[in-house]
Amino acid sequence: MIVAIDGPAASGKSTTAKMVAKKLEMTYLDTGAMYRAVTLALLRSNTDLDDYDSVCQVVDKLELDIYDKGSKTIVKLDGEDVSEAIRSMPVTENVSAVSAMKYVRQTMVEIQRNIGKKTNCVVEGRDIGTVVFPDAEFKIFMVADVNMRAERRFKDLHEMGESRSFQDVLADLRRRDEKDSTRAYSPLQKADEAIEIDTSMLSIDQQVRKIINLVKKNN
Ligand code: DC
Repeated sequence: MIVAIDGPAASGKSTTAKMVAKKLEMTYLDTGAMYRAVTLALLRSNTDLDDYDSVCQVVDKLELDIYDKGSKTIVKLDGEDVSEAIRSMPVTENVSAVSAMKYVRQTMVEIQRNIGKKTNCVVEGRDIGTVVFPDAEFKIFMVADVNMRAERRFKDLHEMGESRSFQDVLADLRRRDEKDSTRAYSPLQKADEAIEIDTSMLSIDQQVRKIINLVKKNN
């Protein structure tokens, strides 16, 4: 069984998807973490992101491992744990450009489908219900007002010790929304049959309960 959860950055997907997976005893798959890992590999190897062939070569050589450990997602790049490094600012600033590249997407989608074949998964991303698992049993599209999302992200960053202004965080979210939803290949899009949940006024518990109820009622 696949529960697909899509939506823009900071819409509450990750925390919600993780809790839903735990409650339903399913695997949690954070596909954004995979695009972040590819971005990190490209930045570390000083690959010119405008040089598509070089990008493809790095992607072909990449050894990417992603799995749950307790309540954490562990991402390994060539055996090294990069779970924290993929959340850094340079990665966040470049991930939209990297994830817009066709070959990067094709490669990641194949890995995601292979994981989904082996186990029941709650998969979060941007194109899960539309492209990766169009036959997913459940499709959720989470949205929230951009100011609300920026506030949440701003708080998270401060808790992590990053000092960025609210305006800066807001501008970054707007830029990523624009890039993620207007790219030519697999843009962020609500699947026709997806159920939209506006999380602007909902607590995480309420979001989780909504999804769990939906799965239990229809399963
Ligand atoms: O969920 P996140 O913010 O960690 O995702 C990082 C970036 O990866 C996001 O800007 C868009 C991209 N992404 C994507 O294109 N497709 C997915 N399925 C997941 C993420």
